[in-house]
Amino acid sequence: MSSKKIALASDHAGFELKEKIKKYLIENGYAVSDFGTDSNASCDYPEFANKLCLAIKEDPEMQGILICGTGIGMSMAANRHKHIRAALCHNEFTARLTRQHNNANVLCMGARTIGEELALETMKVFLSTDFMGDKHERRINMFS
Ligand code: RB5
Repeated sequence: MSSKKIALASDHAGFELKEKIKKYLIENGYAVSDFGTDSNASCDYPEFANKLCLAIKEDPEMQGILICGTGIGMSMAANRHKHIRAALCHNEFTARLTRQHNNANVLCMGARTIGEELALETMKVFLSTDFMGDKHERRINMFS
């Protein structure tokens, strides 16, 4: 089931896109927790990924969105956390499939690799698609 509670975080490269996503989410009734960063000043993306992942550990109903330049560093950092299934998505198709098949609880996007409109569409699909369970549950339970 999709969550209305969203944790957001970015580094400096993702800051502007994070702010646009935050605006959309708030306007559309989501409860948003913003874990930074709060400017374009250079910072270290793992710090913000870790904060968001710890918040999801406290509240597993929350879904997360992480944005850096490529989305790669954020996804690597997030997936170090056992309770996190972070997926780097580039479009609606990958967002749909990672929810249906991987039950991803964190969406990662790259602000330098995706346009604003596509990022919003990707996020909308991620937030509105449910996990299919069944054999896919067995498979994600095999993650070590
Ligand atoms: C920052 O320059 C950049 O390395 C970061 O945003 C991200 O793309 C890392 O994976």
